[in-house]
Parts: sequence; C-alpha cells; structure tokens
Amino acid sequence: MKWVFLGPPGAGKGTQAKRVAAEFDVAHVSTGDLLRSEVAAKSELGKAAESFMTGGGLVPDDLVIAMVAQKLDDLNAYLLDGFPRTLPQAQALLERVGDGAIDRVFSFELPDDEVLRRLGGRRTCRDCGTMYHVDFVPPQVEGKCDRCGGELFRRDDDEADAIRRRIDVFKSEAGPLIDFYGADVVTVDASRSPDEVFAEVRSYAQG
Ligand code: AP5
Repeated sequence: MKWVFLGPPGAGKGTQAKRVAAEFDVAHVSTGDLLRSEVAAKSELGKAAESFMTGGGLVPDDLVIAMVAQKLDDLNAYLLDGFPRTLPQAQALLERVGDGAIDRVFSFELPDDEVLRRLGGRRTCRDCGTMYHVDFVPPQVEGKCDRCGGELFRRDDDEADAIRRRIDVFKSEAGPLIDFYGADVVTVDASRSPDEVFAEVRSYAQG
C-alpha cells in the first residue's frame, strides 16, 4: 500500500491515517508530525521550520523533500499524510518512487467553517499523539489522554489567525496538486463521522 492523503487542515487526515496504518500495518508518514518532532528536538531543520509552521505557512520545499526522501528509503508500504503539499513536492515524489507507484490519492473535503470548528477544539496527547476534540471526540477526563493518561495540549498553529492562513495556503496549492493527480484522485466527504469516513477509505484497500 502506498497512499497519499490530501486535504485542508483539520479535515481528519491524521485521524484517518492513524486508523488505516494500524489496521493495515503500514507506516504513517505525517510531515507535520515529523516537523514537530524536529522543532521539539531543536534540530537545524526544526529551527529552520518553526517560524513557518507557527505562522501557518509552508516549510520550504527543499527541506521537506529531503526529510521525506530520507524516511521513504526504508519503507515499502506507507501512507503519506500532508505530503505532497505543493507541485514541486509532488514532482519530487514521482521522481523518487516512479510512475504508478502510488496506489491511491485521496482528497478530503471539508468546508472552512467546519475546519475552524475542528481545529479550534483539537487536543493532542503529548505522550502518545492520540487526537481528541473537545466536542466531537472528547476524552473521558478533561485534559487527560484516555489511552495513556498523558497531558493533552493545543497546537500553536491552531490559533485562529494561523488556521485562516493555513486554509488560504491550502487553497492556493490544492488546485495544481489535484490537477497533477487528475482522474486518480478519490474525493472523500470528510464532514461525516470518523467511522463513516474510515469505512469509505478502508474500502479502497480491499477493492
Ligand atoms: P500538519 O500537521 O500536516 O497540519 P494540517 O495539514 O494543517 O492538518 P492537521 O493536522 O491540522 O489536520 P488533519 O487533517 O490531520 O485533521 P485531524 O485528524 O488532526 O502540518 C502542520 C504544519 O507543518 C503546516 O502548516 C506546515 O507549516 C508544515 N508542513 C507539514 N507538511 C508540510 C509539507 N508537506 N510542506 C510544507 N510544510 C509542511 O483532525 C482535526 C480535529 O478534528 C481533531 O480534533 C479530530 O479529533 C477532529 N476530527 C477528525 N475527524 C473528525 C470527524 N470526522 N468528525 C469530527 N471531528 C473530527
């Protein structure tokens, strides 16, 4: 399995990617998660990426492409979440894996007002990365992860201004990307419940 998840911030790419990766035992490669780890580790890449991320902009292509290339070298099956995000990234991926290597490209669709609601309420476990939403997917105990008891935090780029900027950036990059993948793109209505979206997405693994 070599899949790509495209879609606006908050569309549920990460939520679905974690479920697909667990069910089909494939690697979940999230460029957002990889970059956040680099920022936390205060690596050279993290220092270069941090200000772009906090403001809701994109990290420069050359940095992201090099990071993903290193990761893909060791993997046979993966789900790319948040990559490619620009045409140069899509072209670099094609050059790396070859024509026809990506089995499925999914485009998650969600209206802007729902993006704002989802990201405004998102909370993530600092220890295991499990995702919650204060209204839609609440933890049993406020501020604590159901799975491991870790502390839940709100991402820096989930503030209103950064969310709006991320939506604008997505809209300016999405068209060329969808055109690049053309008829192969599977459009997913991401406004449904997590279970409904998962049922549709997983059906493509069996089809
Ligand atoms: P990244 O981490 O990739 O952020 P994003 O694409 O903006 O996506 P999100 O993680 O915000 O949302 P999601 O679609 O995964 O939704 P989620 O499942 O969390 O990137 C962050 C930054 O890193 C970028 O802005 C950029 O700076 C940089 N970056 C990353 N990749 C890059 C690249 N390739 N090139 C350049 N820069 C890059 O769900 C959101 C919330 O909704 C959660 O609370 C969840 O519980 C809830 N939820 C999920 N599904 C549902 C549902 N069906 N119904 C109700 N609630 C739901």
